[in-house]
Amino acid sequence: MDWTVWRDEFPTFLTKTYLNTCSLAPLSRRVRAAQERFLDEWEALGASAWYELWMTALDALRGKVARILGAAKKEIALAPSVSVALSAVASAVDYSARPQVVLSDLDFPTLAYQWAVKPEVERRFVSSEDGIHVRPERIAAAVNAHTAIVATSRVYYTSGAVQDIPQVARAAHAHGALAFVDAYQATGQLPTDVHAGDVDVLVTGGLKWLLGGTGIAFLFVKEALIPDLKPTIAGWFGNADQFAFDAHTFTFHEDARRFELGTTANAAVYAASAGLDIVLEIGIDRLRTRTSELTTDVIERLSDSGYTLKSPAVAEERAGIVAIQLRDPSKAVKALGARNFVVDYRHDRLRVSPYFYNTLEDNERFVDALRAVAPPR
Ligand SMILES: Cc1ncc(COP(=O)(O)O)c(C=O)c1O
Repeated sequence: MDWTVWRDEFPTFLTKTYLNTCSLAPLSRRVRAAQERFLDEWEALGASAWYELWMTALDALRGKVARILGAAKKEIALAPSVSVALSAVASAVDYSARPQVVLSDLDFPTLAYQWAVKPEVERRFVSSEDGIHVRPERIAAAVNAHTAIVATSRVYYTSGAVQDIPQVARAAHAHGALAFVDAYQATGQLPTDVHAGDVDVLVTGGLKWLLGGTGIAFLFVKEALIPDLKPTIAGWFGNADQFAFDAHTFTFHEDARRFELGTTANAAVYAASAGLDIVLEIGIDRLRTRTSELTTDVIERLSDSGYTLKSPAVAEERAGIVAIQLRDPSKAVKALGARNFVVDYRHDRLRVSPYFYNTLEDNERFVDALRAVAPPR
């Protein structure tokens, strides 16, 4: 694979050393063209584009997401954000006999917030011993007959550590609980087979490793569970007879579309679809190999340098994020920004997240600049 060909697809690299896909992927020419196509259709057809083009585009997007997750299209719903997707599915669970949800301290907060606003639910947080991993055995130890859901991330956003999801799912199922996965930091860069992993519910979105833009997220719900999960938030896109416009009758879609709510952001749908095409064209196995090489290179450049890394040392345990602990990461991110590097920080760490379009030279430049603006303690 000649990766330099792909670099040209992302004009951001003409002016920036962009190493921040874990926050937002850079804009590709294809995604820009897809946005323009959407605008052209809107201008030319107006509302009739819904029937002629856009409903089909929604269906096609669900199909591509299914492909990338190893799911069936009927198991996929679209949502404007992971938070909305989670809210819809969390609203469908009966907590009366099982009032507990098990989470981890390293999950992105929006996962835990679903249940923070449900007074009937007790949230049990599993801590991380090293701020990098959450051992699945520790999650298993927190699950019991009162647990409704075990919810955690496939890849932790602050460390890039990859969770052993089949093991988490086994721990949940051993006690009759559901396994929810936040895969936002994983989808695109890690091969995924939701059925092999025995995942019940998975949420993910378009703007990071799937190369789309903001305003679109995806929900997978295992087919066998769908009939019993009836969300208590609703909208006309979740109604099986959407175009009957009958306010008196609401019938859940038989498939995962029952978790959808209102009118989609079609610019986002087009962006996500074009981003997914790139990922599918390259292939996730290749992306995984490439990202692993790049993160290994960053780690090798930083090892024995006095920096404290907060990412797994073993490549198989790590996805495309390298976290570097700093005294003042916000200051370092700003100083790097002034030198045309785009990285970000969370908590006490700077995150550098190379993807296939990055190069070893990007890594080298980044490490040199980091040493200049934030030398190791
Ligand atoms: C792991 C993870 N989950 C969820 C989110 C946010 O999801 P949304 O804003 O779509 O609700 C992020 C955003 O950075 C994330 O990294």
